[in-house]
Amino acid sequence: MKEEQLIKSPDRVKDVGEVFTPKRIVEFMLDQPEITAKINDLPATFLEPSAGEGAFLVEILRRKMDVALLSSHTVQEYGDNALIALSSLYGIEFMEDNVEMLVMNMNEQFLRSYYQGLHQLQPEEDVSELTDGNVLKSAKTLIQANMAQGNALTQLDNQGNPIMFSEWKLLGKQHGFQYVQRLEYTFFAIIEHAQEPVPETPYEEISLFAPPEEKKSSVIREYDPCRLVDIYQTQSKER
Ligand SMILES: C[S@@+](CC[C@H](N)C(=O)[O-])C[C@H]1O[C@@H](n2cnc3c(N)ncnc32)[C@H](O)[C@@H]1O
Repeated sequence: MKEEQLIKSPDRVKDVGEVFTPKRIVEFMLDQPEITAKINDLPATFLEPSAGEGAFLVEILRRKMDVALLSSHTVQEYGDNALIALSSLYGIEFMEDNVEMLVMNMNEQFLRSYYQGLHQLQPEEDVSELTDGNVLKSAKTLIQANMAQGNALTQLDNQGNPIMFSEWKLLGKQHGFQYVQRLEYTFFAIIEHAQEPVPETPYEEISLFAPPEEKKSSVIREYDPCRLVDIYQTQSKER
């Protein structure tokens, strides 16, 4: 069995507390019923503020992709559900080389699960024929937008700019296609709104994006509503 590399160097452990979580611990933690319930709820958001190379986010994605497949009857519906699963996962990581690995690992997991899912949906068909290129392009857009380089404590990236996140607001289906609107906020504004109300139990979910009336004014950029599979090509308008 290949041994997991949990540290890169003693200096990095000292400087940024970089110790990666072993797979069996990740699995044990994600098996907790409260977490499983959120994984089974496709649009329920997860934010990992010290994401490393994605030990948690990649495994959550793998599990959510299974849920996406189970809730889909057609290849088109599976493409939408797979993108909803991916759009719900957010990460912040300070070290640039870790962010590169995080993005690569999320991309790889998405592709692996997507191809496996297509094969399970239509085993007699060639997976390359079933693959929707727009799903793959939109998956890349989601990962680039949702995996941020930055310091979760100062809420700034290494250029000194605010960390930005997009809400992928689901608008419902038309002619079988899921529609979405992308809204961009600073991480600072998201935290500010998410702090109210304070959850009553440790397991109660704080929604990453506050109800519309509270956060409306803090949208920095909004995009035209479009089909979820077309988000890679939507235009934005500054507020
Ligand atoms: C203990 S490791 C855990 C990584 C990953 N969550 C895992 O379980 O494998 C902590 C990670 O947080 C990053 N980090 C440290 N301080 C940070 C900060 N202020 N903001 C964002 N990331 C930070 C480190 O670079 C490191 O990758």
